[in-house]
Amino acid sequence: MRYHILTYGCQMNVHDSETLAGILENTGYEPTGRPEEADFILLNTCAVRQTAEERILGRLGELKRFKYERPGIIIGVCGCVPQQKGAAERIMQRAPHVDLIFGTHNLHRLPELLARAGKGQRVIEVVEGAGRAEGLPMRRQGGHAAWVNITYGCDNFCSYCIVPYVRGRERSRPPEAVLEEVQQLAREGYLEITLLGQNVNSYGRDLRGSVTFAGLLRQLDAIPGLERLRYMTSHPRDFTDELIEVIAGSSKVCEHFHLPLQAGSDRILRAMNRGYTQEHYLGLIEKIRRAVPGASLTTDIIVGFPGETEEDFLETMRVVDQLRYDAAFTFMYSPRGGTPAAARPDQIAAEVKKERLARLMRRQNEISREINKHLVGTRAEVLVEGESATDPAMYTGRTRTNKPVLFPACPDLSGSLQSIRITEARTFTLYGVVHD
Ligand code: SAH
Ligand code: SF4
Ligand code: F3S
Repeated sequence: MRYHILTYGCQMNVHDSETLAGILENTGYEPTGRPEEADFILLNTCAVRQTAEERILGRLGELKRFKYERPGIIIGVCGCVPQQKGAAERIMQRAPHVDLIFGTHNLHRLPELLARAGKGQRVIEVVEGAGRAEGLPMRRQGGHAAWVNITYGCDNFCSYCIVPYVRGRERSRPPEAVLEEVQQLAREGYLEITLLGQNVNSYGRDLRGSVTFAGLLRQLDAIPGLERLRYMTSHPRDFTDELIEVIAGSSKVCEHFHLPLQAGSDRILRAMNRGYTQEHYLGLIEKIRRAVPGASLTTDIIVGFPGETEEDFLETMRVVDQLRYDAAFTFMYSPRGGTPAAARPDQIAAEVKKERLARLMRRQNEISREINKHLVGTRAEVLVEGESATDPAMYTGRTRTNKPVLFPACPDLSGSLQSIRITEARTFTLYGVVHD
């Protein structure tokens, strides 16, 4: 029996798919990259924006023909979309070829649910936030880089965001469990670990042992064999001085800060329930840049939040111009049912959102290109991932600052750290040669 998982959304989901794959392989399934030959096709879905959801329904439509061709196959939907109220029933109605639906809190139930679906039942099992079981099997994708959960869920309730509703309350994994997992990965030869949470800075807040994210990083930093530590995502409100100090003093924590700005205007930040002002954010970046010279900085920005005026938007542009991000993920505000922002009467017209997004992206791309051009002629340490997916004549890897680098393939470099001389820079990618 073969399975094929299609994953949408954030790293949290990508990593959940590694767990789902592990569970399936434990029950005797083998992976296939070709959905047309799979006995079980699973869509692990994202609900963060309406477009993410539409893509999933579109993809389900395309899968219909596999079901006609081979009626014995099982099609499943899991992840964040079915976790929304009434969504599982809607999917079952709109896509009668779906056999199995479950949510984000009961991944471990997959073998039993799959067995029921295999007997011809249509199965829906969506439950509210239970704790995630420890010790689930996992089939990791990356050769030398691995993800490790440190928190699940989110308590921030940014007024636009669906994540707290579909991922439940924030829960920290016990520090011993995280340490043990990272130690094991280091022993297995993994060189890079990315710690995952919707707001990693608040790690430990729900554990009585008073462990902080900074404290956890300090412990992980001491693990032999590891070369690089990363974390996703930090909240600018909770980025403490202690954390900056630990990162600055660590040789393993990478010189890359991803700090979602979301908006530059204080009025909009307040309406978003972000808990910081532009001044706080700018001050934080100044401290970070002083403590970690040469660090790269990336962000997430939403344009067209309800009530956003041209003046509010220009505040965002001003922050972008002043801070000069290495890169930014930019989004048009998308109303999500059940969130406070979606109920506001002052929604922004689609054309206005589009125009603001285009202006922001144009400016950000110029800045990214300028910053990358300055790197031509310098050297960077790259963790080599392997052949480039788009060009098999090239190898690919990332710098400590998290920039993708392409360089002419030389065999046997996968999983090694190489000094690469940068020879060319584009907006999103650097090109180079192995330095001798
Ligand atoms: N926990 C992370 C990431 C959450 S989702 C954080 O707090 O940064 C990733 C990004 O999607 C967010 O940073 C935000 O920029 C964007 N996003 C979330 N909800 C959105 C919505 N309703 N419309 C548009 N973008 C949204
Ligand atoms: Fe969503 Fe805000 Fe939580 Fe991030 S911090 S997941 S944007 S509610
Ligand atoms: Fe999407 Fe769920 Fe992540 S909504 S962004 S996959 S937590």
